[in-house]
Amino acid sequence: MLTGKRIVLGVSGGIAAYKAVEVCRRLVDAGAHVVPVMTRGAEHFLGRTTLSALASEPVQTELWDAAEPIPHTRLGQTADLILVAPATARVLSAYATGLSTDLLTNTLLATRAPVVVCPAMHTEMWEHPAVVDNIATLRRRGVHLVDPESGRLAGGDVGAGRLAAPERIVAAVERVLGPADLAGARVVVSAGGTREPIDAVRVIANRSSGKQGIAIARAAADRGAEVTLVSTVPTPGLTGARPEIRVVDVETAADLEAAMSAHSRSADVVVMAAAVADFRPKAVADRKLKKADGPPEIVLEPTPDILAGLGATKRAGQVLVGFAAETDDLVANAERKLRAKHLDLIVANDVGAPGVGFQHDTNAVTLLTPGADPRTIGLTGKDDIAHAVLDAVVEIRSAARTELAHPTT
Ligand code: CTP
Repeated sequence: MLTGKRIVLGVSGGIAAYKAVEVCRRLVDAGAHVVPVMTRGAEHFLGRTTLSALASEPVQTELWDAAEPIPHTRLGQTADLILVAPATARVLSAYATGLSTDLLTNTLLATRAPVVVCPAMHTEMWEHPAVVDNIATLRRRGVHLVDPESGRLAGGDVGAGRLAAPERIVAAVERVLGPADLAGARVVVSAGGTREPIDAVRVIANRSSGKQGIAIARAAADRGAEVTLVSTVPTPGLTGARPEIRVVDVETAADLEAAMSAHSRSADVVVMAAAVADFRPKAVADRKLKKADGPPEIVLEPTPDILAGLGATKRAGQVLVGFAAETDDLVANAERKLRAKHLDLIVANDVGAPGVGFQHDTNAVTLLTPGADPRTIGLTGKDDIAHAVLDAVVEIRSAARTELAHPTT
């Protein structure tokens, strides 16, 4: 998969630097030519001899002491991909602000190759607004991020910030360098919870943050798709910054239904990740209801089932993906929705489990397709879940193409 690919592996100074050794070994085993670059900080945690012995070339650290006059431009220009694992808060900050202080940060600025960044740091640092802003900036610029995991950190602390597992890092590299398996596909994704007005100021809402739908939109664009994201939540990192993602803002189930039916007509893939209100107030007061008038009696009426409507009018070849948020009987309920709504794939999540579903950065899902065994993906970042969903979509599309070319009946 990575045969002949030249990968600059940047290692910066965190305790997770030791895991870069395993990442390096896996990349070399997959056929890559790995060029290791360490920061001075990394040398406190990892011997350069170790990395030199496993990589395809000796470690480079300094801008000044190489025989080559301008090593950073050579490294940046000849790389097929630059991977930074672990990336410390300092390296993220330098990269986000365009500061070049050492060979690694110079190389990051002197490249047009895709960059994969794997942050690792203590939870307090990972959650600091400065780091959060730098991550958002890098994402907006198209840098691929492999989110850290939660778990044991240096010094016995436990929390978010642990470097992603080596297999996740290598999978991300393979995805970036692999064929754009959704190139040319038109993908429509809905995200977020609907808000149904009660009066001029109040709404009935739900806890959906839109993070999973937005992650799917971003991942589909990274895989070459032309994406329309129909969202009830703001998408500051996407609007205007990613021309391959068109954002359509909606608020109510009625808005969402109109947008989905308009945009899905010509879509190859439709992913309904939004949490749609099942009921809305029948009458909406056009003024603010007053407390002095006492508690209002709110009569609800059902909203249309948008996904069921899309399933009923689905055109041949379109892949329709639904979600199922469940607290009981996950697989049985999801299977029922898969059949009733004529879906090709349903992504079921047990929203009662810790770290799963609404508002979290992590998720755990079971993927169900008609006639196949359920596939479970354990607790991981929403970006990973997004790619797993799209892997399943790509499989469905290629099975349909094979069936078209060689019908079995
Ligand atoms: N959905 C929809 N329109 C609705 C309700 C749900 O399009 N009015 C979609 C959701 O976007 C999701 C799927 O249907 O992709 C399943 O939603 P979920 O809330 O899990 O199930 P419901 O069909 O609403 O059934 P229930 O609330 O009884 O679990």
